[in-house]
Amino acid sequence: MKRHVTAFATAAIVGAVCTAVVTPATAADGEKVFNKCKACHALEAGKHKVGPSLAGVVGRQAGTAEGFGKYKGLEGADWVWDEAALMGYLEDPKDFVKAKNGKRTSMVLKLRKEEDRKAVIEFLKQH
Ligand code: HEC
Repeated sequence: MKRHVTAFATAAIVGAVCTAVVTPATAADGEKVFNKCKACHALEAGKHKVGPSLAGVVGRQAGTAEGFGKYKGLEGADWVWDEAALMGYLEDPKDFVKAKNGKRTSMVLKLRKEEDRKAVIEFLKQH
């Protein structure tokens, strides 16, 4: 039912409302993908597990989750997590970080499927 509403709304509504209506489809898929990340990442700000909190990570400077003191490859990172950077990192964290700053990232999980990466990024945008 949501999908029908989405198609309808996309044609009729512009701007913020439109984005809010269109994203849930992929964000919902992303929530499932995020099950793979949950062991190491929380979505609440300031709550850290093996990995840093991912609250507000999209658009944020890499390696700067407040209060997370265990960065390895991302320590001192000089890039921002825009969609392109996240697509690269999630596909192959080790290669991505090595190419960026020569360090070894401590995150090993790879999301090989492009649609999984896109969906989880959509999901993360909402947190
Ligand atoms: C086995 C634990 C583990 C899993 C599973 C894991 N991560 Fe990570 N993640 C980490 C660690 C540790 C870091 C910090 C890496 C570093 O500093 O080198 C990290 C860093 C990140 C960052 C950068 C955060 C920042 O503050 O700059 C993002 C984004 C991220 N992970 C996304 C994900 C997503 C999305 C998934 C699921 C598809 C995932 N991770 C699965 C451990 C994990």
